Amino acid sequence: MTKTLLLLPGDGIGPEVTAESRRVVERLNAAAGLGVEVEEALFGGAAIDATGDPIEAATIARAKAVDAVLMGAVGGPKWANQPFDTRPEAGLLKLRAAMQVFANLRPALCFPALADASTLKREHVEGLNILFVRELTGGVYFGEPRGIEDLGGGERRGVNTQVYTSTEIRRVARVAFELAKGRSGKVCSAEKSNVMESGLLWKQEVQKLRDAEYPHVELSHMLADNAAMQLVKAPKQFDIILTDNLFGDILSDEAAMLTGSLGMLPSAAIGEAGKPGLYEPIHGSAPDIAGQGAANPCASILSLAMGLRYSLGRPDLADRVEAAVSAALDAGVRTRDLGGTATTRDMGEAILAQLA
Ligand code: IPM
Ligand code: MG
Repeated sequence: MTKTLLLLPGDGIGPEVTAESRRVVERLNAAAGLGVEVEEALFGGAAIDATGDPIEAATIARAKAVDAVLMGAVGGPKWANQPFDTRPEAGLLKLRAAMQVFANLRPALCFPALADASTLKREHVEGLNILFVRELTGGVYFGEPRGIEDLGGGERRGVNTQVYTSTEIRRVARVAFELAKGRSGKVCSAEKSNVMESGLLWKQEVQKLRDAEYPHVELSHMLADNAAMQLVKAPKQFDIILTDNLFGDILSDEAAMLTGSLGMLPSAAIGEAGKPGLYEPIHGSAPDIAGQGAANPCASILSLAMGLRYSLGRPDLADRVEAAVSAALDAGVRTRDLGGTATTRDMGEAILAQLA
C-alpha cells in the first residue's frame, strides 16, 4: 500500500533542507520498500508571492488528506511588514489549526559526537534526552480578542489573549503521560500558575488527569521562568517537559542550544490517532544563510524520521534514519552551524551513504 507525504518547503533554507529529506524518502523507497509517494505544494512567503495567500485552501485540504506533512520553514524579511493574517507565519498557524495537531513533540537530544558543540560543558549535555510536549493549537497564539487598536492621539493598544479550556489541557497532557510510559516515567509541567489563571487551570487539570489515570507517572510542576533557568543549570534533571504553546516555543529554542545547534532539532505535531501528522524542524527560515547551501539538513531529516515513526508506520526506518544521522556526525561531517564547512548536500550525502 502506498502512503503519501506532502512536502511544504516554504521559505529561506526550507527548500534546501527539505530537498535532502526528499532524497532520503527516495532512497528508502528504492532500498527499503518504503512505498511513500511525495507531493509538493507552495507554502509561506513562496505561496504569498505566487497567490497572495500563505496557504491556499487546496493545500490545506491536501494536508488533511495525506498521511504526513513535512514542512521546511516559513517567513523572512521580505514579508515582515505584511498584516498579521497574511504573513507566512499565519499560514503555518492556519495549517496547525486545520490539521488539529495539538501536541508538538520536540526532542532535544544530544548526539554523542556533538557533546562538545554546546556552549555548556560536556558533563551537562552528554546523554541529554529531553522531550518537550508543547501544546500547539491553543493559548496566546490563537486566543481572542487579539489585535492592535487605535486609541487616538497617537496612542495604540496591542492585545493578545492567553486562554485554555480543560479539554485542551487534558488532551495534550494525555499525550505526555502516554509517552512517559516508554521513557523514565517522569513528566515536568511548566506554567506560570503564580500569575496566570490559565496557568493555574493548567496545573490543576494536569495533576487531576495524572491522579485519575496515570498514577505511575512521576509528575512535577515548575514555574516556566524557573524551568528556563533549570534548563541551563542542570538540564539532565528533565525527561518530559509538558507546557503550553508560547512557553513551549521559547523553552524548546533554549533547549536546542544545549544540543549544539538549532539545526539539529526536529519536531512532530500530532492530533487524534489516525489523523495525519505535521513534521517540521524547529529552526526558522534563516534568511541570512538561505541560498548558500550551508544550512544543516539534520533537523529536517530527523523530522522525517519522526514522520516515519508516528504517521507512516515505519518505526524501524525511523531508527535507521536517526542512526544514519548519528553516524554521519560520528564521521566528522559538520555544517557551518556545527563549526564545520560541509554543505547541506555534503551532510545529506553523508546520511544517504549510511542508508544504502
Ligand atoms: C516554531 C516557530 C513558529 C512558532 C513560528 C514560525 C510561527 O517559532 O515552530 O517554533 O512560533 O510556533
Ligand atoms: Mg519557535
